Amino acid sequence: MKILTYDEIDSQEAFMLNINALWWPLTPSRVEDLIKYDDRWSSDSLLYAVDKGKIASQVVGLRIPTKTADGEELSLGVAGVATHPSHTRKGLSTFLMKELHERSVNEGVRMSFLLTRSSFVAYPLYVKLGYRDAVDFPRCTKPLVRKKKPKKSILRKFRKKDVRDLDKIFERFSRDLYGHVLRQKNYFDWRLKISDSLKAMINVVETKDGVGGYIVKRQLGADIVVEEMVVPAKKNMDRMFREIECGDKGDYITVLPLGGKKQVNYVRSRGYMTDEHSWGKVMVAPLKKSFAYKEISRLYGFKDGKFSLLELDQF
Ligand SMILES: CC(C)(COP(=O)(O)OP(=O)(O)OC[C@H]1O[C@@H](n2cnc3c(N)ncnc32)[C@H](O)[C@@H]1OP(=O)(O)O)[C@@H](O)C(=O)NCCC(=O)NCCS
Repeated sequence: MKILTYDEIDSQEAFMLNINALWWPLTPSRVEDLIKYDDRWSSDSLLYAVDKGKIASQVVGLRIPTKTADGEELSLGVAGVATHPSHTRKGLSTFLMKELHERSVNEGVRMSFLLTRSSFVAYPLYVKLGYRDAVDFPRCTKPLVRKKKPKKSILRKFRKKDVRDLDKIFERFSRDLYGHVLRQKNYFDWRLKISDSLKAMINVVETKDGVGGYIVKRQLGADIVVEEMVVPAKKNMDRMFREIECGDKGDYITVLPLGGKKQVNYVRSRGYMTDEHSWGKVMVAPLKKSFAYKEISRLYGFKDGKFSLLELDQF
């Protein structure tokens, strides 16, 4: 069994594995764009276990800067874990992930994050490798109100020249948060380059003092899903919610308050139904035995609800 990187394997075979196992259309141009524009990616991010010239298993390792109570900390972000069905239960994912962990430790990285669901078959694999649930992905729902939207809208469509304001507002929003909040320079510039659908999903909060935030929202049939909200001032949140909670069709509005406990408490105060526990999990593992989970929890304020990993920062 050989360990190879993306430029050493058959990219079409890799595409087949990703589309079948993860519904992830990982084409060569997408990989090229990610390496070119997303600082978390590099040419050695994709690792493959190759058996007799065929891809048997894959893992993706990203170098992700994070913010902690003590300052900045580089972490490992694991994604794209997939083993070809003809090779499962032979220890290949375990083998590749251990290899990735070891490489990261050699670079001085102390911890690894991943996103999964407790209902996935991979969950016990991660637990065996030392990962523990860090935070849940809350999904909060409320019935849509049959009411005319306020005459003066606080939301408008995204315009190209908004990118700097959105970067600035995110910085303000994330000042008191820990976790995956260290976005690279000119974030929205490159983010829009690699996502065709994002532009139409961004709604800008426009106030008399200028841009007051943004939300990323999409229609799910006639229902509404708010995937990310970055609106620092409460009065703007109130106005925005009053507007988006109205619908002449559809049943529910769903919100993903992933920017710390403050967001969860806010949607709760608006009468959204929330689950204490959900299937979606952020898991974390210390990569060095001497580094305790308790210390990771302190660094990221898991218990205080300070940890943030918004939709656009997911990997
Ligand atoms: C999940 C997946 C990556 C596992 O790959 P793998 O190479 O078979 O994993 P390993 O052989 O290293 O398994 C290690 C341990 O994980 C657990 N595990 C793996 N597959 C499992 C399954 N289908 N059911 C229950 N436990 C499982 C077991 O504890 C296993 O140890 P054991 O075989 O000694 O009991 C593979 O089934 C897959 O590609 N699934 C589809 C894609 C996916 O769900 N990816 C994860 C997204 S977060």
